[in-house]
Amino acid sequence: MSNQPRHIAIIMDGNGRWAEKRGKSRTAGHEQGAETVRAVTTFCARHSEIDRLSLYAFSTENWKRPKIEVEFLMKLLERYLKSERSTYLEGNIRFEPIGDLSMFSASLRKVIDDVQNATSGCSGLIQSLALNYGGRDEIVRAVNSLRENGTITVEMLGSALDCTHDIDLLIRTGGDHRLSNFLLWQAAYAELFFTDTLWPEFGADELETIIKKFKTVERRFGGLN
Ligand code: FPP
Repeated sequence: MSNQPRHIAIIMDGNGRWAEKRGKSRTAGHEQGAETVRAVTTFCARHSEIDRLSLYAFSTENWKRPKIEVEFLMKLLERYLKSERSTYLEGNIRFEPIGDLSMFSASLRKVIDDVQNATSGCSGLIQSLALNYGGRDEIVRAVNSLRENGTITVEMLGSALDCTHDIDLLIRTGGDHRLSNFLLWQAAYAELFFTDTLWPEFGADELETIIKKFKTVERRFGGLN
């Protein structure tokens, strides 16, 4: 049987370059990037073979960007979650944030909680947004939460993480070939696909092509075929 892309994770890169190429501000690139988030989420929700879509929306390192860009991303996120509440519910999509949310404003946390609670009964796709997320930070938080438990096993650590699901297919847009601290533990046996397409120009057609290719790959998980 071919591989099933049950858990797809995406590093959404290239918003800034997309905007700069058009003489627009970087924030216009993020705005357009949010449209791609909606399109890709809707595509995945319509494909029952995909259980989970994890998207890298804001990393623990993104705070280093200019204040104006960080503030814009926070507002965009809040606006997106508010306006997409109905898309989640109509598409039977469950929203699950991962990352350390304690750094966000009370109003953003409230919207995150609201959409998470409102969609908790949805049984279709799980869309997980990584927010103030870093793979190392996630692992350290998990290790600290297990401190009292004696010797830690792979299973114990794996289930103490924000995201407890291995990735099948990891995609990075924007031309770079790196993980940038995204889901380091969960990517252990992921198939990695890189595309030069900038995130605002990525879409269902290219995702479909990548999935087709992914299905033909032989996955051995360290064993023999
Ligand atoms: C990388 O592009 C993208 C980000 C740091 C943020 C991702 C945000 C979005 C896709 C839009 C908002 C998301 C949601 C969920 C509403 P970059 O700015 O690093 O691009 P560059 O490498 O071309 O500069």
